[in-house]
Amino acid sequence: MTLFAALKAKTSKLRFAIWNSNKLGYRILRPIYASFHFCRMFFFSAEYRHQTWAHLRYGKHFHQPPNFTMPNRYPALFKIAQDYFAGRSEVKLLSFGCSTGEEAYSLREYLPQALIVGTDISPYNLKRCLQKPNSPKISFVHSLSEEFTNSGDFDAIFCLAVLQHTHNRSGVVKAVKYTFAQFEAQCLLLDGKLKSGGLMFIDHSDFKFLDTSIRAKYFPLQVPNNKLLHNRPLFNTQNEILSESHESYRVFLKK
Ligand SMILES: C[S@@+](CC[C@H](N)C(=O)[O-])C[C@H]1O[C@@H](n2cnc3c(N)ncnc32)[C@H](O)[C@@H]1O
Repeated sequence: MTLFAALKAKTSKLRFAIWNSNKLGYRILRPIYASFHFCRMFFFSAEYRHQTWAHLRYGKHFHQPPNFTMPNRYPALFKIAQDYFAGRSEVKLLSFGCSTGEEAYSLREYLPQALIVGTDISPYNLKRCLQKPNSPKISFVHSLSEEFTNSGDFDAIFCLAVLQHTHNRSGVVKAVKYTFAQFEAQCLLLDGKLKSGGLMFIDHSDFKFLDTSIRAKYFPLQVPNNKLLHNRPLFNTQNEILSESHESYRVFLKK
């Protein structure tokens, strides 16, 4: 390991401890480091400024604020959609929490015939989506806009790494910052936009889709690769932790 790599690993370990450790020393350092971090990011990162503003403006509507994404992030899920809709000339897909648009563009590779709507709560992310090469079959809208509210009749909805929160990690026993009620309300809203016979893709969430009140309308799609082991906490309807890792279904067929 080079000196630089060793130093980087040490500082990242220290940062993690300052944010997460319950030891008194770290707890004292936390507000000092948080102020320093805020000022540094606010002055030097346009993305941080825009995301902070979005958070202040839409705070209570946010699920997962971080916008990490990448092209073809879920090949197994995208292949399931490709096989399910093979031979269909008209397919309408929703990428909910599309971040900077990579998910929508990846879906186009698997289903070139599809009309794809990407939506996100962050105006900064949507601006980045719109900077990508224009495609007549892909559009992006804000998730709290009238246009999105009035949209519907989707054949498949992809809600991947959205219905979760970073505060529901690292040793918490109760989901407080992001709760089952918020998760369920969003699932109900998405359910209203999905056609019967359509597919709901929900992965990397803090709660189980089949715990929601709409579970009777759905069953797990019987395909290989639907169930996956997740090394992350899972919470029940009372927001209590169920396990630190679990196997869960990711694709649900609406009856
Ligand atoms: C980790 S990214 C996931 C991106 C992409 N789905 C993926 O898995 O690669 C989570 C995204 O959800 C968005 N998000 C959070 N709350 C939302 C809401 N209420 N409506 C729409 N998008 C939301 C965030 O802005 C962020 O871009």
